[in-house]
Parts: sequence; structure tokens; C-alpha cells
Amino acid sequence: MSQDTMKVAAAKAALSYVEDGMKLGIGTGSTAEAFIHLLAEKVGEGMRVTGVPTSERSARLCVELGVPLASLDEMPRLDLAIDGADEIDPHLNLTKGGGGALLREKIVARASARFIVIADESKLVPALGAFPLPIEVNTFGIEATRHGIQDVYESLGYSGEIRLRVRDGEPFETDSGHYILDASFGHISNPKALSDALLAVPGVVEHGMFIGMTSVAIVAGDGEVRTLTAPQD
Ligand code: 5RP
Repeated sequence: MSQDTMKVAAAKAALSYVEDGMKLGIGTGSTAEAFIHLLAEKVGEGMRVTGVPTSERSARLCVELGVPLASLDEMPRLDLAIDGADEIDPHLNLTKGGGGALLREKIVARASARFIVIADESKLVPALGAFPLPIEVNTFGIEATRHGIQDVYESLGYSGEIRLRVRDGEPFETDSGHYILDASFGHISNPKALSDALLAVPGVVEHGMFIGMTSVAIVAGDGEVRTLTAPQD
């Protein structure tokens, strides 16, 4: 089974959590887009849902396919959000932001009664950190912010590098007008400690670790789709 087929299988399994009348957070990325296509089919068959998209890209696809949308200001409490991930650890902590939508994704996930992540099995990792951590930062004083982030990592005993995300030769700009620094420091031994320290750096808007937010992970492998819940600890 190809990775794309697995993404579709995970997205399809997530549809069973969607009920008529729900207010739905809609993620960003190729797996979330597979979900949007399947959701649009359900809407075409008469299911009534209203989506809050986590990016302009997902919003455009929803509009194109006829999925009704509202803004988070119009619907600040959602029943369910469904999104992809770059990494999923055994506690269902995530790395997100490979597609650059981490800030809106986290706001929408936090506004949702349940947050379900959908992925192919390549996203399962023993610990976060192999995927560079996306950190969304204010564009003002970006070098100073980068130094602040570097200091945080070093004070916690990590070593590595931080790169400004670039697209087509220009800094990649998020839907909220920020830049992204991708931090490659390897295995993150204590996500919560790193999260707290990063969020204390002026200029850091948000980072891509989603800690303790995931209700269920639907993970598709070759021939099977597993539903994982976080261990109680
Ligand atoms: C976007 C994200 C995506 O969910 C993440 O990058 C996974 O993408 P894909 O489903 O294409 O593998 O966090 O900001």
C-alpha cells in the first residue's frame, strides 16, 4: 500500500467520528486534504457539517468542493478537529507544522472538544525530534529571536541548528504573517520543559509540539488501520 493510500485509509476511518450537525475543525496538509475530499462526498450526500479550516489552503479546497465553512470567531467552540501530523509519539504528543499551519492548527485543536490526528504509520516515532521542530516567530528581530531559541535549547542540553524556512528564495510567510524557524536538535527528552522554555522567548508565537492535546490517533499501515489512544499516566 502506498503512503498516499494509507493517508486516504486513515482519513476514511476518521469519517466515522463525524456526525450530522457537527462543527468541525479541518486540518492542513496532504492527509487532511484526503479527509476534506471524503468529507465533501458526505456533504454531497446530505450530511450537514460546518468546517473551520486551519489554513487558507484548506479553506480554498473546502470552498472548491462545497464544504460549508465558518470562521472560528463565528464558531469559537467546535465538536471535533481532524488534522495530520509530522510525528506522533507513544503518548500521542505530536510534531506539527511541516505545512506551516501550526499556529492556526493549535488554536483550532484547542477550541475543539476532541482532536483526532490522522496519519500513515511513517509518522509514528518513539520520541519527538527527528523531524525539525517548526517554530512560528514574529518577523521583527528574527535574528534575536533565533539566538533566544538557540539559548533555550543549549540551556536544556541540546545541540543542533535552527534554519529560517525559505520558499522560492524568500522567507516562508504563514497565513498569519509570521516566519518559521525549523529547529533540528534531535530527540526531545522532555517536550513539556522545552515547550515552556520556548514560549517564554519574546518573538516566539507558537511551536509545533502538540502536547497532551490528541484524543485519538488513526494510523494506517499496510493493510490495517489502527486507532490509538493516549496511555493514562
Ligand atoms: C501542517 C501540518 C500537517 O498536518 C503535517 O505537516 C502533515 O502533513 P501531511 O499530511 O502532508 O504529511 O502540521 O502544518
